[in-house]
Amino acid sequence: MRVQLNKQLSISKIVIGCMRMNDWKLSTMEIVQFIEWCVERGITTFDHADIYGGDHRNEELFGEALRMQPSLREKIQIVTKCDICVPNDKNPGIKTRFFNTDKQYILTQVNESLDKLRCDYVDLLLIHMFDLLIDPSELNETLQQLRNEGKVKYFGLSNHNPLEFDALQKYTDIQFVTNQFMLNPLGIENYLNGIMTHCLKAGISPMIWSPLAGGRIFKPDNPKEESMKNVLEDIRQELKLETVDEVVYKWIFRHSSNPAIVLRTGKKERIERAIRSASGEEMTREQWYKILIEAGYKLW
Ligand SMILES: NC(=O)c1ccc[n+]([C@@H]2O[C@H](COP(=O)([O-])OP(=O)(O)OC[C@H]3O[C@@H](n4cnc5c(N)ncnc54)[C@H](OP(=O)(O)O)[C@@H]3O)[C@@H](O)[C@H]2O)c1
Repeated sequence: MRVQLNKQLSISKIVIGCMRMNDWKLSTMEIVQFIEWCVERGITTFDHADIYGGDHRNEELFGEALRMQPSLREKIQIVTKCDICVPNDKNPGIKTRFFNTDKQYILTQVNESLDKLRCDYVDLLLIHMFDLLIDPSELNETLQQLRNEGKVKYFGLSNHNPLEFDALQKYTDIQFVTNQFMLNPLGIENYLNGIMTHCLKAGISPMIWSPLAGGRIFKPDNPKEESMKNVLEDIRQELKLETVDEVVYKWIFRHSSNPAIVLRTGKKERIERAIRSASGEEMTREQWYKILIEAGYKLW
């Protein structure tokens, strides 16, 4: 199952998020085998960011696997992100969190990501968060340069609201091919603020992160979350699914923008359930709205 982001670039509907890959404690060979296992199942897209992992090392872990098995590179799509600056041991000068979209900073980060990933190019670069100090004309110059140098094939945004997305798009003829943002039954703010609907207006498919609310779907810690778990469980039984994660994925996939989901798990049986949920019986409108209303959406 694929999501076509533009005429040339398609990503798998299930994307492997590499944010916690360091916690999986895999050897380089095991990462190679994991990527191969994913590719055999049609999961070809891997989501990174320059800041993922302890000491920001997750791109490097992935790159070591690509060095061991270079033939994998052409079989997969690599997504990475930049613009978040956080205090860390590598950059002792940074004392507080901020966003940076200055040309020199983005060019440096992309070069570092390519070094760590041991790649000549990434398929998709996302601006991680909206930088309130952004100079959109300068961003346009930066993206044009990265494209002309062949270092980045396509560009998108992440966590940008419709106004922010449209404001940046106005300054560049490079089409942003996606917006990556959070959505799950415990967090529907991106339905409330119009980001999901904006995907239809912009003609893009979103990449949804935190589909399982970081695991809170399974471990409710207040009555509201408990109540949502019960609704999901009822629908699981109606659809005869194995577990509620499949219900959540089907709920996300039901939107006409054809979303992809970005998983964080490295557990194969959980990934296989996500694959299954992308096909088979769809959720009914009534079931879909039941979840939305339980999540706090007021129809009128
Ligand atoms: N663009 C952005 O700003 C942004 C921000 C955050 C994340 N992301 C991306 O999105 C990815 C997804 O991260 P997320 O935290 O948002 O993911 P998530 O899928 O909502 O949550 C993952 C958590 O759910 C647990 N889980 C999964 N299936 C489960 C099951 N069947 N039973 C119990 N627990 C289960 C996982 O545990 P196990 O690991 O033990 O399976 C993991 O702790 C990240 O890797 C990253 O690539 C992007």
